[in-house]
Amino acid sequence: MAYETIIVDIEDRVCTIKLNRPDALNALNSQLLGELATALGEADANDKVRAIILTGSQKAFAAGADIKEMSEKSFVEVFLQDFFGREHDALTKVRKPVIAAVAGYALGGGCELAMMCDFIIAADNAKFGQPEINLGVIAGIGGTQRLTRFVGKSKSMDMHLTGRFMDAEEAERSGLVSRVVPVKSLMEEAQGAAEKIAEKSMLSAMAAKEAVNRAYETTLAEGILFEKRLFHSLFSTEDQKEGMAAFQEKRTPQFRDK
Ligand code: HXC
Repeated sequence: MAYETIIVDIEDRVCTIKLNRPDALNALNSQLLGELATALGEADANDKVRAIILTGSQKAFAAGADIKEMSEKSFVEVFLQDFFGREHDALTKVRKPVIAAVAGYALGGGCELAMMCDFIIAADNAKFGQPEINLGVIAGIGGTQRLTRFVGKSKSMDMHLTGRFMDAEEAERSGLVSRVVPVKSLMEEAQGAAEKIAEKSMLSAMAAKEAVNRAYETTLAEGILFEKRLFHSLFSTEDQKEGMAAFQEKRTPQFRDK
């Protein structure tokens, strides 16, 4: 499918989706979020794709929801349209691993979008923030919930109430991002991580993703039970036999998603 606001590229079993509205610092309008939801759905369904990278430009991952598009909307419109609710649900139901490679601004909906991914690799120039309060609103696609789970109540309140930005170093220290790399090596690092994931059995990669995400939805005892059930079920797969045999035979496993 031809897209106007994103660029999709598949290389070495990794699908990279680049947000591409440079004149608006990749502000998220309805078209972009719609195209992104479609592209993620296609990547999830494509057997050649085993990991997905979501990225922007070196200046901006995304500077938030498109303020120009939403400024005149009424309560009735956003309520009846479930403004960005459907897109949120589509983006978070992807089953393959999704890495956010973030350089520059990840603000408002941009920060929220990065947090919907499975983990974030940040460039050293990345800036995260939830500045919606400066516009007379608050975060609307998960920011108050996800940022709080990532960095704790105090820092999340600080970010949402003052609207200040967090640099990459603070983001790593606070647990928002998994690693920070020089901006020029961001895509190489993300591609390397995605290719490492692509080598694994999709069965265990998807199970790991489901189990970690469960930690946000349930109690410790239920989460551990969920993990144990998945762990046990993986013993029914050929990939478990192959992985453990390869270890003992001191060779690289050949996983077949079976
Ligand atoms: C629409 C945006 C935009 C946005 C930037 N632009 N952010 N357009 N929506 N969120 C546009 C600018 O209008 C400008 O275009 C061009 O991008 C370059 O931006 P500048 O401001 O000139 O760049 P700079 O001075 O470098 O400042 C960068 C910036 C600033 C600090 C990121 O642009 C900024 O504060 N942007 C808004 C950030 C924000 O408040 N995000 C939260 C949005 S609300 P023109 O053509 O005008 O020159 C949100 C809610 C989510 O995300 C909930 C959804 C349901």
